[in-house]
Amino acid sequence: MIELRGIGKSYGSGRERITAIGSVDLTIGAGEFVSIVGPSGCGKSTILNMIAGFLPPTAGQIRVNGKPVVEGRVPEGLGYIFQKDTVLPWLDVAKNIGLGLRYRGRPKAEIDAKVTDLLNMAGLAGYGGLFPHQLSGGMRQRVSLLMTLACDPKVLLLDEPFGALDTHTKIVLHKELLEIWRRLGQTIVLVTHDLDEAITLSNRVVVLSSPPSRVALDHEVTIPHPRDVFSVRESDAFSRNFQAVWHVLGEEFRRNQAFDHVAHRSAA
Ligand SMILES: Nc1ncnc2c1ncn2[C@@H]1O[C@H](COP(=O)(O)OP(=O)(O)OP(=O)(O)O)[C@@H](O)[C@H]1O
Ligand SMILES: [Mg+2]
Repeated sequence: MIELRGIGKSYGSGRERITAIGSVDLTIGAGEFVSIVGPSGCGKSTILNMIAGFLPPTAGQIRVNGKPVVEGRVPEGLGYIFQKDTVLPWLDVAKNIGLGLRYRGRPKAEIDAKVTDLLNMAGLAGYGGLFPHQLSGGMRQRVSLLMTLACDPKVLLLDEPFGALDTHTKIVLHKELLEIWRRLGQTIVLVTHDLDEAITLSNRVVVLSSPPSRVALDHEVTIPHPRDVFSVRESDAFSRNFQAVWHVLGEEFRRNQAFDHVAHRSAA
């Protein structure tokens, strides 16, 4: 479903040039749930932005559903959820969720039915008439998720969508996301700083190295589904998977720190 072949990405030019991504190869099959982790600045958001067609790679090619991604054109059936919730404060919850369908010119009755379904699914029945400022942070993030789900994406890109939430709200949303994924079977790519989150949710955890980044580890998470998001964290399988990834990720964090130190010293 998603193919990255020899992807490189540099920003700027001349002495200011930064090579964020060295060379990344990654194939993600239809219906897979893959997490990408790695040190800050290793190019995780850049990768999502390139898959979505927001940015062109400097080298290599990306395909989504067999078609090459063209800059400036979001691949068909792709949904993107940003780190910060993107609800519009001047629209109520129901109008926010129906926004994408309205842009697509769908009839009102269809939009209303879809919005009601989604609100029920996410435990927000009765909240359609409230405005974003009347919701908690977790509820707003849930509305963001529903806004994207309303258009039935086949591919979901999530950039640290739960980063700003407290642990309990986060775990409740993990449960909802897993249920949605089990029901609808989208291909999901999740960028996160939280290795617990990556192990709880995904089938594969991809560790990117410090820049110029490459894939340092592509780990298959050996925990069967369905997973109970609360108890899974206490299981031996969870610890084993965590340690296997941490072994590589921790090393990359250490290397990145050394890299920052040298970069700052040479800039001083
Ligand atoms: N528009 C841009 N112009 C110049 N440099 C950029 C731009 N966007 C990102 N970069 C640089 O590319 C590198 C990778 O950035 P990116 O945002 O992809 O990292 P990240 O892995 O998502 O980091 P974080 O975990 O902190 O979100 C960084 O060095 C960053 O400074
Ligand atoms: Mg980022």
